[in-house]
Amino acid sequence: MITTTGLTKVYRSRGREVTALDGVGIHVRPGEVYGVIGRSGAGKSTLIRCINLLERPTSGTVTVDGQDLTALAGRGNRAARPLRLARGGIGMIFQHFNLLSSRTVQGNVELPLEILGLGRRERARKALDLLDLVGLADHARAYPSRLSGGQKQRVGIARALAGDPKVLLSDEATSALDPETTRSVLRLLRDLNRQLGLTVLLITHEMDVVKSVCDSAALMEKGRVVESGVVSDLLATPGSRLARELFPVGGGASGADRTVVDITFHGESADRPVISRLSRTHDVDVSILGAAMDTAGGRQVGRMRIELPGRPEENDAAIGFLREQGLTVELPGRGTPGPVAVERELTEEGA
Ligand SMILES: Nc1ncnc2c1ncn2[C@@H]1O[C@H](COP(=O)(O)OP(=O)(O)OP(=O)(O)O)[C@@H](O)[C@H]1O
Ligand SMILES: [Mg+2]
Repeated sequence: MITTTGLTKVYRSRGREVTALDGVGIHVRPGEVYGVIGRSGAGKSTLIRCINLLERPTSGTVTVDGQDLTALAGRGNRAARPLRLARGGIGMIFQHFNLLSSRTVQGNVELPLEILGLGRRERARKALDLLDLVGLADHARAYPSRLSGGQKQRVGIARALAGDPKVLLSDEATSALDPETTRSVLRLLRDLNRQLGLTVLLITHEMDVVKSVCDSAALMEKGRVVESGVVSDLLATPGSRLARELFPVGGGASGADRTVVDITFHGESADRPVISRLSRTHDVDVSILGAAMDTAGGRQVGRMRIELPGRPEENDAAIGFLREQGLTVELPGRGTPGPVAVERELTEEGA
């Protein structure tokens, strides 16, 4: 639904060059929630602004719903209208909501409908439907200053949906909200994704956001995507940085003759009493150094760091047992594999 290839953006200001995007290729499948995560300055906002062509990429292509937006933009002024139409299929929500304080809630949602040229009654009907969808039908006549942050973001979402987009882009939409409100806004995005088949690309620096709503994710660093894929696949991939950052487990070995093992539980293995079986079958004392269990992509997953007595070579059988149970097993500090790219077969999008 969204594909970028070799997307590069170089900002030039006062004789200095900043490469904000450096050959970014992502593939967002129709109907999925795709999270882009990375530290401040990694290029996340630049990526999202290049995807809707608010920012002209220096090179590379952006295809949304089968349409090459970069080719449209490349045709200069003549492309103004086709590009505007294509952008109509892309909704956008912002960290600071960007609502007009002089307009009511309904007036804010009607704004894009006015631009689309809808008549007054049609606009009102549509805006009220959308406000109903985001749970704010009662607040249509209120002004934004009367709303809580979560309510404002719901208005932002209703407004973004006004043009019946297939794609919703979100730049840190929840980072100005408290954790509880964040959860409810994320739930709303998830519901819209399911109900409307909306494809959502969201930018965040919060791992929890990825964990709770994203089907796929990409990790950005210095303008590049260093890891990407389906979240559950990444969790099952040894050496995945996203997996480590989504489920951080701490704790070092308590002595020299010890083996520290990181285990990732996913799928069926998450439900089995693996540790007690290990202990019984191999007659070893297992110490738990750290653990993180949660759901990701609607499935129970977790990571655990355990310690076994004896050196690694003395624990081959125990480690083999864990692997046989379908767990991803890593020995931290024993060399990590290079960059991970777990891309599923690209699905045909028919356009
Ligand atoms: N208009 C601009 N002119 C010059 N440099 C820019 C411009 N916009 C962004 N940059 C630079 O590009 C890099 C990426 O910025 P970007 O805003 O995309 O990061 P980000 O990942 O969204 O960060 P944050 O998490 O803080 O929002 C940064 O080094 C930034 O200073
Ligand atoms: Mg940003």
